[in-house]
Amino acid sequence: MHDVYTYADTVTAFQETGKFPDGAVLVKEVRGHREGVRTTGDVQWGGDIVQWFVMVKDTENRFPENPLWADGWGWALFKPADRTKQLATSYQKDCMACHIPAAHTDRVYVEGYPMLREK
Ligand code: HEC
Repeated sequence: MHDVYTYADTVTAFQETGKFPDGAVLVKEVRGHREGVRTTGDVQWGGDIVQWFVMVKDTENRFPENPLWADGWGWALFKPADRTKQLATSYQKDCMACHIPAAHTDRVYVEGYPMLREK
C-alpha cells in the first residue's frame, strides 16, 4: 500500500505553476497489507509501515557533489526501526532507474495524484 504526502502549500503551488517549488517535500509511505474474508468477500487493508521514500525539491543544484542530490531533488529512504537514520546511499544506484519513466514530469509520477490537477 503506497500513500504519498506533501504540504498543502506544495499542492497549491503545483496547481498554479505546474512545478514543484524549491524546498517541496514529497513522502511516499509504503505499508504491507493484510487480507481476509469478510461478508463483503475477499478484502485487503493496510499493514505495518515498511519504509518512507522522501524527495526534497532543489531548484538551485545546491549539492552537486552529493550522490543523494541529483536531477533537481534530494533523495532519501527511512525505515521504522530507526527513523533518524537515512539509508539511501546513491540516487543513481537506489532511485534513478525507477524514476526515469517520470523524467518528463520532473521525476514525479504526477499522473498518480489527481489533486495536482484540481483547482
Ligand atoms: C522499484 C522502483 C522504484 C525505486 C527503486 C524507487 N522508486 Fe520512488 N517511486 C516509484 C514509483 C512507481 C512511484 C509512483 C508511486 C507508486 O506507484 O508507488 C514512486 C514514487 C515515489 C515518490 C512519490 C512521488 C513520486 O515521484 O511519484 C517518492 C517521494 C519516491 N518515489 C522517492 C524515491 C526515492 C527517494 C528512491 C530511492 C531511495 C526511490 N523512490 C526509488 C518507483 C521506485
